[in-house]
Amino acid sequence: MDTTGIENLPRHVGVIMDGNGRWAKQQGLGRSAGHRAGTERLRGIIRTSSDLGVEVLSIFAFSTENWKRPQGEVDVLMGLLREFFSEELDALDENRVRIRILGALEDVSQGVRRILREAMERTAANTGLQLNIAFNYGSRSEAVRAARLLAAEVQAGRMTVDGIDEAALMQRLYTHDQPDVDFVIRTSGEMRLSNFLLLQCAYAEFYFTDTLWPDFSDEEYKQALLAYAARDRRYGGVK
Ligand code: IPE
Ligand code: IPE
Ligand code: MG
Repeated sequence: MDTTGIENLPRHVGVIMDGNGRWAKQQGLGRSAGHRAGTERLRGIIRTSSDLGVEVLSIFAFSTENWKRPQGEVDVLMGLLREFFSEELDALDENRVRIRILGALEDVSQGVRRILREAMERTAANTGLQLNIAFNYGSRSEAVRAARLLAAEVQAGRMTVDGIDEAALMQRLYTHDQPDVDFVIRTSGEMRLSNFLLLQCAYAEFYFTDTLWPDFSDEEYKQALLAYAARDRRYGGVK
């Protein structure tokens, strides 16, 4: 695939990878097979984003609401995450990808936490694609965390109530030093955010496709980026 020459690339792309379960059902397979196929597609989209020169790619891997799924499915998702990092970390590091986890690591098992911490630490100085993995992530929980951080600073006398402005709030999100999300892609025909990066998406453009995540090709990704490039972003102003 030709990965050169897309103009007006979004700086920050968010991807809600949805439809693994329905894909598996279509193929007559169990949900685990869908998640495995979805993980393969993730590898491709990371590579393509890096090749194209996207600055930040945020992918929704596991939401704070996904704990409601049957324990067996949660275990499969955790296992795939571990497998993904043990197989991909060297290559990601070689490609200068910097990994950040968006989400509360305190609530996940020690094994998963160790792998995620290692991925962040090993790639911390990399200057290529910034890969955000939203894992045990929910925007409302992120907002609560930010509110608590601000309250603690006020209580400690390091900040005043009047000093809390939009920038102060945004700086206490997991994405504090990154640009806002420009473009959100959600697969599988669902048209909702499901608690994904609500504040960072304040002015994002959206792309919804019926394609199920394991079928979302590099070619369709590129089509989506071209659609973004043609959008007219006004931010409340006139043109
Ligand atoms: C997305 O696919 C993967 C995660 C949410 C972890 P789903 O598992 O939600 O697939 P559907 O929506 O049931 O088809
Ligand atoms: C959103 O997908 C979460 C991830 C992609 C990780 P879900 O499949 O969990 O979302 P809902 O439940 O359909 O909103
Ligand atoms: Mg789903």
